[in-house]
This record gives sequence, structure tokens and C-alpha cells, in this order.
Amino acid sequence: MMRRMRNIVILTGAGISAESGLKTFRDNDGLWEQHAIEDVATPQAFARDPALVYRFYNARRAQLQQQAVKPNLAHHAVARLQKEWRQGTVTLVTQNVDDLHERAGCSNVLHMHGELLSQRCCRSNQAVYCKEPFDATSRCQCCDPPSPVRPDIVWFGEMPMHMDRIEKALYNADVFVAIGTSGQVYPAAGFVAMASQCGAHAVELNLKASDTNTLFDEHDYGPATVVVPRFVERMLKEN
Ligand code: OAD
Repeated sequence: MMRRMRNIVILTGAGISAESGLKTFRDNDGLWEQHAIEDVATPQAFARDPALVYRFYNARRAQLQQQAVKPNLAHHAVARLQKEWRQGTVTLVTQNVDDLHERAGCSNVLHMHGELLSQRCCRSNQAVYCKEPFDATSRCQCCDPPSPVRPDIVWFGEMPMHMDRIEKALYNADVFVAIGTSGQVYPAAGFVAMASQCGAHAVELNLKASDTNTLFDEHDYGPATVVVPRFVERMLKEN
């Protein structure tokens, strides 16, 4: 049973968006939308073949804005927990670069791996909202003269975003919940150990056991649209 619960930290991964029609990274023969991750998600790939990398993220951005891609019951359940939880805070950390949490009504989403609907100035690092395709000829509005822009995505070998706030939240967490993440990519894969060491009760919600499953105190395996609403219902009953 859970001890006194106040602060909740939720970490989401690609699995929460799978039933919204967005492919996960590692459930498709190691390919992400027909590409090896090292060909599209590293600074080296961007230096080697920028046109391919721009094209790849333009396609992901367009896919995200297709009518069929919508938040699912799991995104809505997380938003409900954020709105109705009275005893403390609900910090939402996501590795996902989609905006489905926001569209479901979640607030203060910490996108540790960046955001698809955003472009970043290569010189100042300033990020701005962007729905449209862009490429090597595109320029920022923050510098004079304007500088090139890149996808606002954290690639392998780069520092994830918001780590100060995330570590503080993990330190103060009473409950840590990982939803739809394989536990293969650090530092996110290390969050369960950090939260547990600080006394949090750790819950894994996934289609199947992740690589870090033994570090969790409890598990519920099934599609996110089933297990996440079930978990939220239970938390709010105990609230
Ligand atoms: P992965 O593709 O590694 O793992 C997806 C997880 O979702 C797996 O554990 C699946 O079992 C689970 N899953 C799949 N369908 C599900 C469903 N319907 N309901 C519940 N769970 C389901 O994705 P992430 O762990 O998010 O980083 O990957 C982490 C990072 O690796 C990504 O953010 C990305 C990637 O390379 C960067 O691009 C920097």
C-alpha cells in the first residue's frame, strides 16, 4: 500500500501516444519511422546530412497535425489527475516531443527531449513555436543578422532540458509513475532509482515489463488507454 501521498511525478514515454497513432521508437525493428535513430537523432547526423534531418522532423511535425492524431484516454486521465489532485503537486515529465499532453489539458509539461512544434536558433538557442516545415534556408527572428534554425529536439549526446526542476520534483516525490517508456534511455531511465532512493512509491504502467521493471514497487501491464485511467481513478479515490 502507498504511504502518505502528496507529490506525484509522472514520466511518460512513447507508449502513451502509441494508441493515438504515433509510433514508438523501439517497437518497430529498431527503426523510427523507417530510419535508424543515429541517422536522424544525433548532432553528427545533422552535420552530415542536414536536409535529411530537416525533412524527417518536418514529416513528424506534419504527422502530428493530422486530424486522426488526437490525445487518447491515457493523456486525458493524466490531465484529470493534474486537475483533481488536491493533496500536493503533480509534475508531468515527458520524453515525448508531441503536444498530446497539452491538447488533453495538462499544464506545465516538462518536455525533457524538446518539442516538435518548435524551432531553435542555432546561435542563441532561443526556441519559438513553429507549426510549419523549415529547412537550412530558414532563419531565426532573434539575431541580427538572422541565424539558421534547427529542430527543437534533444538529440543523443545532448543535454536533456529542465533537469534542475525534474531532479527537485523527484527528490520531493511520494509517488513516481512511469508510463509507456522502455527504460533504455538515460537519464530518464534512472529516474525510478532516484525517486525510490528518496522514498517514493514507484509504479510502472506499460504494455509489458520495461528494462527497469524490477526497480518498481508495483506494475500494471496493458494498453495505456486502460491502465492509466484505472490508476488515476484509484489515486483520486484515495485522495
Ligand atoms: P520506446 O520506443 O523505447 O519504448 C516504448 C515503450 O512503450 C515500450 O516500453 C512499450 O512496451 C510501451 N508501449 C507500447 N505501446 C504501448 C501502449 N499502447 N500502452 C502502454 N505502453 C506501450 O520509447 P521511449 O521509452 O519513450 O529520445 O524512448 C525514450 C527515448 O528514446 C525517446 O524520447 C527518444 C528515443 O530515442 C530522443 O529522441 C532523444
